[in-house]
Amino acid sequence: MPCVLQLTDLHLMTDPSAVLQDICTRVEVERVFAYVRAGIASGRWSFDQIVITGDLAHDEQRATYDILREMLGDWLPTCKLLLGNHDSRPFIREVFPELAPREPDFLTFSCRVGDWQLIGLESHISGEVEGELGERQLEWLAAELRLHAQQPTVLFVHHPPFDVGSAWVDALGLRDAESLLQVATSAPQVKAICTGHVHQEREKRVGDLQLLTTPSAAVQFGVDSPEFSLDSIPPGFRVLYLEDEAFRSEVIRLPR
Ligand SMILES: [Fe+2]
Ligand SMILES: [Fe+2]
Repeated sequence: MPCVLQLTDLHLMTDPSAVLQDICTRVEVERVFAYVRAGIASGRWSFDQIVITGDLAHDEQRATYDILREMLGDWLPTCKLLLGNHDSRPFIREVFPELAPREPDFLTFSCRVGDWQLIGLESHISGEVEGELGERQLEWLAAELRLHAQQPTVLFVHHPPFDVGSAWVDALGLRDAESLLQVATSAPQVKAICTGHVHQEREKRVGDLQLLTTPSAAVQFGVDSPEFSLDSIPPGFRVLYLEDEAFRSEVIRLPR
């Protein structure tokens, strides 16, 4: 059964001791990578695809993407990267030239894993915290879904297309969430939309479609918090098990 690893919101910085909200993101992300690698080595899991759903770098430095490339190492051939609001499209293109964009203006992917289609979208708006896919990308998505109508599908995007119940972060969401949900729900093969950005685990169902958010691999935000707050829960990641027509998914947190 094909298995997908979703990591998100690494917020890496060039300075290895730099902190975000008093948390050294490099140390946390290295712990998460080491934990996943230990699980692979022990046979606990093996991944056919790794998707990192944005906020890769926090400091907008090209050198930070070089560091990420080195950290990914042998994962690179099975790894897809998406942009978050903090990311730089030009730097990602420079450092990861194999992630050839399908369109000049956004970085997406569409790939087959087993019988499943995985489609990644870019919600980055230059200089903004909010996200947007835009009409052209939604048209591309609709065409891609028509092309792979027989394949059960998971979509990946940085900004979640639903409110998680924390007013401050919900105000910084996906501007065209409704349009995305319209495209996704009119293609019955789309089973889930996996996202990041909110640094917490949440989920919502829209008909048969599962909307999921995944915790940050570095810094955790408070849940149901009207204003910005942090949670002391350890970082985590999501594992998707792609069965014949359905999928199972779990969030795994690092031990304290
Ligand atoms: Fe983030
Ligand atoms: Fe974000």
